[in-house]
Amino acid sequence: MSEAVRTILRADGAAAKEPGREPEAGFLWDFWYPAVRSRAIRGNRLVTAMLLEVPLVLGRTSEGRAFAMRDSCPHRGIPLSYGHFDGATVECSYHGWRFDACTARCVEIPSLSSQDKLKVDRIFAGHHPCEERDGYVWVYMNPAGTRLPENVPAAPSLPVFSKKYKITHLACELPSHVDQGIIGLMDPAHGPFVHQSWFWRSKHSIHEKEKQFEPIPYGFRMSPHSPSSNSAPYQLLKKITGEGVTTTIDFVLPNMRLEEIHSGKMWFSSRATVTPVRRDLCRIDFVAAWNLPFLPVFLFRMFGKTFLRQDQETMIRQAEGLKYDPKLMLIDDADRPAKWYFALKANLLESRRTGAGMEHPMTGPVTLRWRS
Ligand code: FES
Ligand SMILES: [Fe+2]
Repeated sequence: MSEAVRTILRADGAAAKEPGREPEAGFLWDFWYPAVRSRAIRGNRLVTAMLLEVPLVLGRTSEGRAFAMRDSCPHRGIPLSYGHFDGATVECSYHGWRFDACTARCVEIPSLSSQDKLKVDRIFAGHHPCEERDGYVWVYMNPAGTRLPENVPAAPSLPVFSKKYKITHLACELPSHVDQGIIGLMDPAHGPFVHQSWFWRSKHSIHEKEKQFEPIPYGFRMSPHSPSSNSAPYQLLKKITGEGVTTTIDFVLPNMRLEEIHSGKMWFSSRATVTPVRRDLCRIDFVAAWNLPFLPVFLFRMFGKTFLRQDQETMIRQAEGLKYDPKLMLIDDADRPAKWYFALKANLLESRRTGAGMEHPMTGPVTLRWRS
């Protein structure tokens, strides 16, 4: 069985296009996104990926550095991924122009004669900053034709709390716009319906919940709390450590949900990102690390895959409905996190447009109540 829960999905959920007008894709540029798993790039292999509707070609130099170029030759646009990579330069398959993989600077145009004055080293293929963290190749996505900010922020990395730990990765594609993927990820009310399973919880365990939220830069936090008493794994953890269990959940723009669980010296840390591939397709990348001795990787993966598949099946069904452009609702309090997400996104875009500071949609701590 493949390691990732992967399904290739059709473009059925495509956003309705008005004739003659390309609708805004609603992507957040100038952030890091995970493109592929680190282990996918080895040897002189070129690997393709798409982020925010930008086709990329990725690889690793013989020195071990990951790189990401636009998968398009600046000469005639043929994908560079059809070309040849020698560990340092990518050679285009059409006329053999060669580009340094890390800088994307052209280093050779074979057709030039001794008379030609063309400055080869002034020609660049498109390329993006690229860094590896937590087993992913992250790519910083600035829009084509824009300059990189002077200080590109560090790529995200998963918080871990001891030297030794287990780590595992899961992925799953959703036939939806990234916004639907994200609000699905932070939606507290679907659990008892979508994730019914003997090991987690049933529809009958629904009860009223009250959670504190607070603003954090670019996002919001579900303040540290003792997790749901109707979830068996938390009960087990409490029994084993004999100490209280606290969970903190953060959502941070552009697309990240981070969860930390601590009980005594035991910890569990996870991150889910929802990355836009195209406007009608996104991908959840989920990474979890922990030092809980009683939780083997295979067991966690079994549960994790079940969870992701349940979400994926739901989103596939939702995409069926969204084809017909229905009117939707966000209700209080269960959909308040979704409202904050849309407000954070709008406020960020507004602050980038005006150059003024970003206004946070929350003015202080808020208590939300829902049943789940
Ligand atoms: S299209 Fe790439 S070298 Fe001509
Ligand atoms: Fe879910």
